[in-house]
Amino acid sequence: ARIRHYKWDVKNEFKSPDCFKKLVITINGRSPGPTILAQQGDTIIVELKNSLITENLAIHWHGIRQIGSPWFDGTEGVTQCPIQPGETFKYQFVVDRPGTYLYHAHYGMQRDAGLYGSIRVALPDGELEPFAYDYDRSVILNDWYHKSTNELSTGLSSIPFQWVGEPQSLLIQGRGKFDCSSLTSPSSTDPKVCNSSNPECSPYVLTVIPGKTYRLRVSSLTSLSALSFQIEGHNMTVVEADGHYVEPFVVKNLFIYSGETYSVLIKTDQNPTRNYWMQTNIVSRSSNTSAGLAILNYYPNHPKRSPPSSPSEGPKWDDVDPRLAQSLSIKARKGMGRAPPQTSDRVIVLLNTQNEVNGFRRWSVNNVSFQHPKTPYLISLKHKLTGQFDEKPPPDGYDFANYNIYVKQNNSNATTSNGIYRLKFNTTVDIILQNANTMNPNNSETHPWHLHGHDFWVLGYGSGKFDIDNDPKKYNLVDPIEKNTVPVHPYGWTALRFVANNPGTWAFHCHIESHFYMGMGIVLEEGIERVGKLPSSILGCGASKGLRVP
Ligand code: C2O
Ligand code: CU
Repeated sequence: ARIRHYKWDVKNEFKSPDCFKKLVITINGRSPGPTILAQQGDTIIVELKNSLITENLAIHWHGIRQIGSPWFDGTEGVTQCPIQPGETFKYQFVVDRPGTYLYHAHYGMQRDAGLYGSIRVALPDGELEPFAYDYDRSVILNDWYHKSTNELSTGLSSIPFQWVGEPQSLLIQGRGKFDCSSLTSPSSTDPKVCNSSNPECSPYVLTVIPGKTYRLRVSSLTSLSALSFQIEGHNMTVVEADGHYVEPFVVKNLFIYSGETYSVLIKTDQNPTRNYWMQTNIVSRSSNTSAGLAILNYYPNHPKRSPPSSPSEGPKWDDVDPRLAQSLSIKARKGMGRAPPQTSDRVIVLLNTQNEVNGFRRWSVNNVSFQHPKTPYLISLKHKLTGQFDEKPPPDGYDFANYNIYVKQNNSNATTSNGIYRLKFNTTVDIILQNANTMNPNNSETHPWHLHGHDFWVLGYGSGKFDIDNDPKKYNLVDPIEKNTVPVHPYGWTALRFVANNPGTWAFHCHIESHFYMGMGIVLEEGIERVGKLPSSILGCGASKGLRVP
C-alpha cells in the first residue's frame, strides 16, 4: 500500500460551466476538482488550504467509511469544526475498499458552488475485477444554479420561505449549456455574463475507440434533481453500485440519485462514422430545465461534431414504476456479496415529512427537524462536554396507526432538535425510511438517503405505508446489495440493515442539499468510548475553543 499525497488550494473564481458566469469554488483552479486515484489499502493525505477569504470549509469523503479515523469524515458540526479562511487542514484516511466514491463540501450548502470530485479506488496489483473491460472512464453528473449558495440557503431559512426552484442547467463532468438568449434583464444578456460560445461551456467529450468495452463510472452529486442518464444507441450493463459488485443487468437509461455511484459497461459497437449523445434528464420533478448533453466521440471523428440526431425526450418524469423496478433489480453479484445478519437488534422507522416549525418551512424525521449544534458531536461526546446538544434522543418511530401518508398533514407538533440516536456498539440496526405527502396536495418526492461511516444492506423497497408485521417477511436476506446511498420513492418505503461497528458519530441524511439544510437528517453515535484521541486540528469551535493546541 502507498501513501498518496495531495495539496489542494480551495478558492473562489469566476467560471462559466454552463455559459453563465458565476462565482464557483474551485480546487487548484478546477471544478469538478482533481480525481483521487488510489489502490485498495492506500493512505490518502489531502492538505487543504482554505483560500476562500470569508468562508469556512469542510470536505467529506463520500463512501469512505473512515474506520479508525472518524474525525476525518469531513462533516462540519458532526465530526469536526470548520476549516477557517487562511487555515490549512490535513485530512488523512485509508481507502479500504475498491470502487467508485466521491468527495464534496459538507458545510452549509457549499457543495452547490462546485466543490466536488471523484475518488477511484482500484484493486491491489494482481487482483482482477469480476468483469472485463478495455478502458476505465468517469463522469460526474450535477445540476446547476445561477444564484449564489448564500442566496439559495438564505431563501430557505427566510420567512416567507423562498424555494430554490429548478436548476438552470444540468452538468456532465462540470459542463452544461444554458440558453443565454432566454435571459431577459439587459445586464445578464451582456456576453461578459452569458456567452454561448465561451469554450468553458463546450460540451464534455468522451472519446472512445470503436469495438472496445468501456467501464464508465457514473455518479451524481446533484443539489436537487433525480436523473436519468443515457447514451444514444448504447445499452449499459450495470456492474457496480457504491463500491459493491452488482449482479449484471442491462438498462437503456440509468436512474441515478444524488450521492450514488455506478459502473456500467458499454460496447462501442455502433456505426463508427459519427458521434453520439450522452444525456441526462430530470425525473421525479416537473422541470423545464433542458437536458444535460455530452458527446460520445467515436475516434477518429471530430470531437466537436454534434451527433446528427436530436437528443431524446427522456423518460416521463412522473412515472415511478421504472425507477422502483431499477431499484429492485440491484442485487449483489453472485458469490461476491456479504450475507447480512438474518435478524436485527433494533428497528428504527423514520417518517419523512415537510412541516412548518415556528413559521419556517422545514423537513422533519419523526417530527424532529435536524439542527447542527455549535460543538461537533464527536468532540462533545469524546471530551464529555455536557449540555452541547439535546440529551433527549429523537423517536424510533411515528404514530403508525393514525398517520395517513397520502394526505397533506399539519404536523403541528414538529420541533427542531439536535438530539441524536445512540446505538449499542456492534448491534444490528434496521432503518425503514417512510415517505409521505409534502405540504402540497398530491405530492410526494424522491429522497436519496446517504449514511456516513457504513455500507448498509438494502433489504427491500415498497410502495405505500410500511407494514411492520408483514413487510419484513419479504426482505431480501439472500443477495441484497450493499450501498451507502439509497432512494426512497414517492409514497414508498426503503428498508436498510447495518452493523453499528464503526466507532464515531455519523450523519445519515437526505443528499438533496436543500433538504438536509432544511433539517432532513439524523446523527448516529456508536462506540464513542472506543474512539481514539481526537486530532487537535478538528477542535476549536463552540465549547472546544480552549481544547485546541496551536
Ligand atoms: Cu455525500 Cu453527508 O454527504
Ligand atoms: Cu430529500
